[in-house]
Amino acid sequence: MEKIILTGDRPTGKLHIGHYVGSLRRRVELQNSGLYDKIFVFEADAQALTDNIDNPEKVRQNVIEVALDYLAAGLDPAKTTLFIQSQIPELCELSFYFMDLVSVSRLQRNPTVKTEIQMRGFSGESIPVGFFTYPISQAADITMFKATTVPVGEDQEPMLEQCREIVRRFNYIYGDTLVEPNILLPDNAACLRLPGTDGKAKMSKSLGNCIYLSDSADEVNKKVKTMYTDPSHLQVSDPGHLEGNTVFTYLDAFANDEQVARITGDYATLQEMKDHYTRGGLGDVKCKKLLMEVLQETLEPIRQRRAEFEKDIPAVYEILRKGCEVARAAACQTMDEVRKAMKINYFDDRALIEEQARRFQK
Ligand code: TRP
Repeated sequence: MEKIILTGDRPTGKLHIGHYVGSLRRRVELQNSGLYDKIFVFEADAQALTDNIDNPEKVRQNVIEVALDYLAAGLDPAKTTLFIQSQIPELCELSFYFMDLVSVSRLQRNPTVKTEIQMRGFSGESIPVGFFTYPISQAADITMFKATTVPVGEDQEPMLEQCREIVRRFNYIYGDTLVEPNILLPDNAACLRLPGTDGKAKMSKSLGNCIYLSDSADEVNKKVKTMYTDPSHLQVSDPGHLEGNTVFTYLDAFANDEQVARITGDYATLQEMKDHYTRGGLGDVKCKKLLMEVLQETLEPIRQRRAEFEKDIPAVYEILRKGCEVARAAACQTMDEVRKAMKINYFDDRALIEEQARRFQK
């Protein structure tokens, strides 16, 4: 069986370093590993609209931002098909058929949907149907491309479980047609969810605690300078704490020992530096200096690639358009198989037409 990767993001904002360590970096590694037959990465603009009905302009603006972030991070259109969800109408078609396979109570039990309903303050049954059913549409995204591997964060686990159920149900009713996907979770604990620069659990635009992939070197350094560390570490000689110390969480996510040794000249490994910090005698400023250097080493090549692509924005749209064409061809192929399995392929089925003709002629 072909090994196929599919994953995507809602284009609701520029991507930040949390996205980078949580998913983007891994995608680029997977892309370059040569282990996969096909890779699809897409912008879930239609899904973003389920939750931004009154703000289509926001989604429209961020489609190009996210495309630039993808390309800057190293996704290569020669190896990875980059496309936009709304441009693949077959996804709506497949979602519609999937809706017959899922009950309202099953959707209500989806923990991600549950929390999102609460977060957005929908009460009772005022939730828009499109929003409520987006796990079904997401199952269509995944199965349309016969994805075997879906690299996403742990918050997407319920979506994948629901998708697998739909696949099993579909294949049971209509015969083996669709592929059950596996989730691929981030491998480093520090990367599961990078906290904001203020130490809050999550990076989010509304909290203003993000470092964006598109931030300038100065912006990054400024943000690192104000980062949350250990509030009880008042004097350099005080013992410091690593728990909840955002600078060390970021170092775990970004720094390797080679960098620590080369940049500090004082420690062979990150662990040695942490030991010094917890013993006391190591100031926050030094730790932040290291983090700045490490972040710049990661972000500078990304910034440079972004600047190159920004010079020719029409070419970036062209990359997306071509990606949509490739994705659409794959989608049409799957839908042919789905329609055949569901017995709604009337005009492709000579035998059916002849059989009906005989029946009526007698
Ligand atoms: N729900 C995902 C997110 O918010 C985006 C997404 C939509 C997705 N369809 C997908 C991810 C299919 C993986 C596979 O990040």
